[in-house]
Amino acid sequence: MISIRHLSKTFTNPDGGTISPLKDVNCDIEKGEVISIIGPSGTGKSTLLRAINMLEPPTAGQIIVDGKDVTAGQYPLDKLRMKMGMVFQSFNLFEHKTVLENVIYAPMELLKQSRKEAEEEALELLGKVGMAQKADVYPSSLSGGQKQRVAIARSLAMHPEVILFDEPTSALDPTMVGEVLSVIRRLAKEKMTMLIVTHEMRFARDVSTRIFFMNEGIIYEDGTPEQIFEHPSRSATKAFVNRIQKLVYEIDSNAFDFLQIHTGINRFCIKYNFPEKSALAYDIVKEMLFEHLKDLRPLTLRFTRLGFHGRGPYGVPASGRQCTGRHKGKSKGNRGRIHFQGFSYQSAVITTFASLQDDPGRIAGNAPDHLVRRPSGHPAGRGGLLGREKS
Ligand SMILES: Nc1ncnc2c1ncn2[C@@H]1O[C@H](COP(=O)(O)OP(=O)(O)OP(=O)(O)O)[C@@H](O)[C@H]1O
Ligand SMILES: [Mg+2]
Repeated sequence: MISIRHLSKTFTNPDGGTISPLKDVNCDIEKGEVISIIGPSGTGKSTLLRAINMLEPPTAGQIIVDGKDVTAGQYPLDKLRMKMGMVFQSFNLFEHKTVLENVIYAPMELLKQSRKEAEEEALELLGKVGMAQKADVYPSSLSGGQKQRVAIARSLAMHPEVILFDEPTSALDPTMVGEVLSVIRRLAKEKMTMLIVTHEMRFARDVSTRIFFMNEGIIYEDGTPEQIFEHPSRSATKAFVNRIQKLVYEIDSNAFDFLQIHTGINRFCIKYNFPEKSALAYDIVKEMLFEHLKDLRPLTLRFTRLGFHGRGPYGVPASGRQCTGRHKGKSKGNRGRIHFQGFSYQSAVITTFASLQDDPGRIAGNAPDHLVRRPSGHPAGRGGLLGREKS
């Protein structure tokens, strides 16, 4: 359906410098495929999507859509964009039009549908994305998730052959990510051909038939979700896949950037859909860090999807085994729970709080006391809290 051959894109900046996010992109996309495009920031994922529908004409190479080279110059771009819906991070709804008017505008203008025809279809599509009741309101009264669902309905109203999504959920409040993803999941079930640039790895894994990992200006690795996430074959893919599930901070001075860490932990919780309780446990971790860690010695914090590892103030990973076992047991199934492993004085404290995660009130209530009672600078601390936990 879409074949891309040796596609490249070079931007020239005002200072005369150039940047080439796309160097040599090659791929074939078949009807019904759901392809998630993942990769580090700045690797040209958005540029690729924009090149595919010629919003960003490529510097060289070919894009062949249904047998025709759309880069050749004669191809009518309005026709191309009718075939390809695009859904952006920022919704791009017309603010001065109602939801219904937003959806019927293009079908009436470009597909020459009658108002009646366009409205009937629009209402059906709005129903499909759960927005039929909001047909007559203006976008300003909608939440981000609702706006994005309208944007998807608007795109569907043009009967596209493929929809290009550029980070459809990254501007959304975390509570709204799910509603948009479920609409996309439903489209996937209906075999809508889609290319989705996303940082939602769990979603990418669930919904996609194929994953493109972009790096170094090319589709660096292309495979099934299982291949890419479980058995990546190339080093940069491995590094990326490992990194996305980890958050590592080295704290080696009192002047550490706690705001960055704070935001980082938050984003991490959001990205992996930690339920509120777990996020609360993280809040306590954060509070501890900021209130109490400043006087202590270098510490490495590693948050993984399922774990927390800290290297203690004396650089010794204190025996954390008993602790690990215990918490493994506690968080059986590990679904959405944070799994803490204690390796240091600080993380031993964290472990205690984590073990109370079923009762957020208790966590919140107990945290400061526990901390205050800790003898400050306790060497490795394992005799302290960890020891007690064990017994
Ligand atoms: N119009 C432009 N003019 C100049 N440089 C651009 C332009 N658009 C993108 N770039 C540059 O091209 C590179 C790739 O950008 P792109 O937005 O495609 O990356 P991305 O993979 O989508 O990143 P992210 O995950 O952050 O969205 C970046 O270095 C970006 O600054
Ligand atoms: Mg982008």
